[in-house]
Amino acid sequence: MIIAVDGPAASGKGTLARKLSKHFDLAYLDTGSLYRAVALSVLSAGADPADNDAALQAAQALDLSTIDETAIRTAEVSDAASIVAAMEPVRAAIRDLQREFARSPPDHKKGAVLDGRDIGTVICPDADVKLFVEASLEERARRRFLELTGRQGDRASALTQTDVLADLRARDARDRNRTASPLKPAPDAHLLDTTKLSIEAAFEAARDIIDLAAP
Ligand code: DC
Repeated sequence: MIIAVDGPAASGKGTLARKLSKHFDLAYLDTGSLYRAVALSVLSAGADPADNDAALQAAQALDLSTIDETAIRTAEVSDAASIVAAMEPVRAAIRDLQREFARSPPDHKKGAVLDGRDIGTVICPDADVKLFVEASLEERARRRFLELTGRQGDRASALTQTDVLADLRARDARDRNRTASPLKPAPDAHLLDTTKLSIEAAFEAARDIIDLAAP
């Protein structure tokens, strides 16, 4: 069973996808972490994320097992990830890796949940269930701000919710307006707006959709 979970940044798709993978005992792949790892590798080499050759080289050398989960979550890497993710050669270089994960999930799992921007449209167009998770820009900024300040343990930092909103708006525009696999719902995706939903309520709604669609 393949479940595709797509949506914009901070829509709640990652938390939801992780919970669904546990509930249905499926493998889980956060595909955003791949673009983040490519971006981190470019930045660590001292290159410009907009440098096509440097980004492609990093994508070709990507190794899932060495991704540094903490280092890829900074604001600088988020920004650079949305730049490298707009490059078609970068996307092509890590496409097979994602499809292979879905085809042969690790740990002998009987399927996988993949979350990202183009899982239902490009990576797994034949997924058993496709969810497109949305939330208002304001609510996403609120969630991401709490997450960032919580993680940094520094509520007095210079970061404001307005900065986070502006950053999300810019990343949204890049993700939705690029020509290479833009963020958009697959025609057969189930739309799930989590603006007014708790994590648990969003999970229950998604679980009900999956139980009905792929009993
Ligand atoms: O979901 P995220 O914020 O970790 O994603 C990081 C960046 O990678 C974001 O700008 C969108 C991009 N991305 C993508 O283009 N395609 C995917 N399947 C996953 C993420």
